[in-house]
Amino acid sequence: MAHTQFAVFASGRGSNFQSIYQRIESGDIPGKIACVISNNRDAPVLEKARTSQIPAFHKAESQFDLPAGYVEDISALLKELQVDYVLLAGYMKMIPEALIEQYPNKIVNIHPALLPSFGGKGYYGMKVHQAVIERGVKWTGVTIHFVDKIYDHGPIIYQYPVRVRDDDTPESLSERMLEYEHRVYPKIVGWLCNDWVQVKGLRTSFTGPAGEWEL
Ligand code: GRF
Repeated sequence: MAHTQFAVFASGRGSNFQSIYQRIESGDIPGKIACVISNNRDAPVLEKARTSQIPAFHKAESQFDLPAGYVEDISALLKELQVDYVLLAGYMKMIPEALIEQYPNKIVNIHPALLPSFGGKGYYGMKVHQAVIERGVKWTGVTIHFVDKIYDHGPIIYQYPVRVRDDDTPESLSERMLEYEHRVYPKIVGWLCNDWVQVKGLRTSFTGPAGEWEL
């Protein structure tokens, strides 16, 4: 069976990239990370990828005269590497609409809250956890969703709840959330490799064996 090919887009540390890479390496997931792309030249994720012999690229719109040139460049790379899915893992830049049009329901994002709450403009990084704590909700969680043209809005693939503790700080909550992110994201990547996700409008359904749904 041909491996499903992934490109990971990340801006920082890359712990989600690593959790996916490790599950692929251990043979649990029949996929391949074809490349890592970062908008940030100094992102630790680029070094992590290179150490794992994965082609790693710094790509920023500022390197191109026109925004269209940037999209064409990324799109040519994804085609050359025969990428099936793009995985956003802590990617701090908006994906250009032209790229979303080329990859409908093929770009996946992980968000550290239960969408549609605490998502959209301004909800990124530690700000998400801060807002969750300030609003006093008792549950937050991990959301994996396809990317559409509206920020944090596309079809939801999976959600997993995480309790907010009374003494949580944004840092402690983010740390606990990461443990779940590292379990959930590789699992969903596995679903995509097996073609277990169907999309109809904003709703997705899981078509794999029932036992595979649980975390
Ligand atoms: C994660 O919390 C993810 O949910 C958010 O950005 C963070 C990325 O962490 N979108 P890492 O770079 O994968 O360690």
